[in-house]
Amino acid sequence: MTDHVFPESGVASVDILAEIAAMRPGDVDWRSGKAFSLVYDVDDAEHEALLEKVAVEFIHENALNPFRYETLLRMETEVISMATALVGAGCGSMSSGGTESIFLAVMTAREWARARGIAEPKVVTTNTAHPAFAKACKYLDVELVSLPHGEDGRAVPQRYEEAIDERTALLVVSSPCYPFGVIDPVEEVAAIAHERDLLCHVDACLGGWILPWWERLGEPVPPWDFRVQGVTSMSADIHKYGYTFKGASVVLYRDRELLQHQIFMFDAWPGGLYASSTAAGTRSGAPIAGAWTAIRHLGADGYMRLTARVLDATRRFIAGINAIDGLHTVHEPQMSVIAFGSDVYDMDAICDVMDDRGWNLDRQNGGLHLMVSPGHDRIADAFIADLALAVETHGEARGGEHVYGGVVPS
Ligand SMILES: Cc1ncc(COP(=O)(O)O)c(C=O)c1O
Repeated sequence: MTDHVFPESGVASVDILAEIAAMRPGDVDWRSGKAFSLVYDVDDAEHEALLEKVAVEFIHENALNPFRYETLLRMETEVISMATALVGAGCGSMSSGGTESIFLAVMTAREWARARGIAEPKVVTTNTAHPAFAKACKYLDVELVSLPHGEDGRAVPQRYEEAIDERTALLVVSSPCYPFGVIDPVEEVAAIAHERDLLCHVDACLGGWILPWWERLGEPVPPWDFRVQGVTSMSADIHKYGYTFKGASVVLYRDRELLQHQIFMFDAWPGGLYASSTAAGTRSGAPIAGAWTAIRHLGADGYMRLTARVLDATRRFIAGINAIDGLHTVHEPQMSVIAFGSDVYDMDAICDVMDDRGWNLDRQNGGLHLMVSPGHDRIADAFIADLALAVETHGEARGGEHVYGGVVPS
């Protein structure tokens, strides 16, 4: 295709499929296990095939008006109730992903604050919080306060204490944060929120669907969910460790009074009452049906089985990295998200060699980043062998950029 050319006549399906096949070779081959973070490789052909079948069945259904599609209404209600049961929440909504869940929580906090006479509310985060908070604050015209993290990579409760003023509405912590995979001191920050009558959001986009099982496997997990007094909302992505395809997250609340601030109603037009609880209008039924299917198909025993694989691979990555002279994990990863770096080597140069060997690592400011999926237990040893080789053989860095997201050119 050339730029800005609209097709004069339709292209036959066989040709469309051939065109797509020709474009694909440059895409990340996540099934090989050599990719991290963009896809959560469940490495279970039956689970994948089931999700694909269900996605096709619901792809044209529209969840805009949930009362028109009783199956989707039931599925969405059940997804929310399974999520609330998992983390001890009171209620919530399904959204399209972590960013939308975070937007909704920030908007809810803003409306909650405005109802109390705070015209220009502030949200207090630590600088390890996901950029979705900065984005939400920008879109929603809310002031963002970003505190430096402590020496262990975690949020520092005392800094929240000092940052709070009469405009503060919401304190944010992560379970765990993306850059280091460490869990913020949720109990301490939530206690500050509770004491000051403020809201406290736990960003468990990463941890929400894996920490419950991590804990049951006997791993040390500090209190991080609604069992903690003072936690009022949470984001938890089903399209990450919930093992469904993209477009599924939940934003959860302790009580309905808070969720109420998220609801939008409008009838000042000829089209009748428009009511909605999330940002989108028209919504494909596929992510709802996919999330429902993934949770029910895996069940607690399936999640335990997959989490045990993630844990095994994570241990091998951490031990392998720390056994290579000159490399070390950054802070102490508490889940399956690992940052690693070096005081002696240029990690960009090491990553160049890994790129050449087909790996797709995430480069961060200060090191490299791994998000471990169940399928990574197949490649952990090969990864460590290649990493050791990259340390031995790397030259000058080619100047790779530390990029997390991207802007589509237009
Ligand atoms: C901790 C954390 N919060 C929020 C998000 C945003 O989620 P999404 O990319 O689904 O919008 C991510 C994504 O990786 C994340 O790691």
